[in-house]
Amino acid sequence: MAPLIAGNWKMHGSLASAAALAGAVRAGWQARQGAAELLVCPAAIHLPAVAAVLAGSPIAWGGQDCHAAPQGAHTGDIAAPMLADCGARYVILGHSERRAEHGESDVAVRAKAMAAAAAGLRPILCVGENEAERNAGQAEARVGAQLRGGVPAGFAGDIAYEPVWAIGTGRTPTEAEVAAMHGFIRATLRDVLGAGGAAPRILYGGSVKPGNAAALLGLAEVGGALIGGASLKAEDFLAIAMAARG
Ligand code: PGA
Repeated sequence: MAPLIAGNWKMHGSLASAAALAGAVRAGWQARQGAAELLVCPAAIHLPAVAAVLAGSPIAWGGQDCHAAPQGAHTGDIAAPMLADCGARYVILGHSERRAEHGESDVAVRAKAMAAAAAGLRPILCVGENEAERNAGQAEARVGAQLRGGVPAGFAGDIAYEPVWAIGTGRTPTEAEVAAMHGFIRATLRDVLGAGGAAPRILYGGSVKPGNAAALLGLAEVGGALIGGASLKAEDFLAIAMAARG
């Protein structure tokens, strides 16, 4: 599979600015035609506007979260079939901000991943240790527990390794640390999914910028990037995408 370069727009923008950003990404990507697969994940309420701009382009759009149920009395939530109905192909699940601000457990993330798959969406399941866990030498234990608890059998999606302390901080692990963690995630996934299971891409996320993208994307087992802040600027997002080799 081509490397996946995914933009997580989080809780930013307006209808007009989201459509404009999507338009700039579309035009810029058409001019460049890199090897990566591109995805943007705007706020759910902006999805139809972004979909209208990106329809007919190679750029996919997706959600930032979904509920575990396909429908029902869940005020304020978004069901996976609703995202699919908006043409979404992907959904980010278990982002550290969801885990921290909404108390999402690995069990909840697992249920969401199954709901996403049932709706025909490809989940991007986020894992990552916090700073205290990294300093205590517990990073692999934390990520391993998140994978074993959150990845359902038959998982056909992607994983994003996002150290919590690298998100929005301008700090990243060293290249050796990223490579080691991605190798650990690959080995754990083989164990969890079995030898015959699908091989998810393992994205790196956390302060990916045009200046560090080529080095990070060139590491073994780094199959793409999940980008927050830099995905809000079309030029930066596209520069990161061009750093990905097919
Ligand atoms: P960042 O966010 O690129 O702003 O560090 C990454 C993310 O939260 O997915």
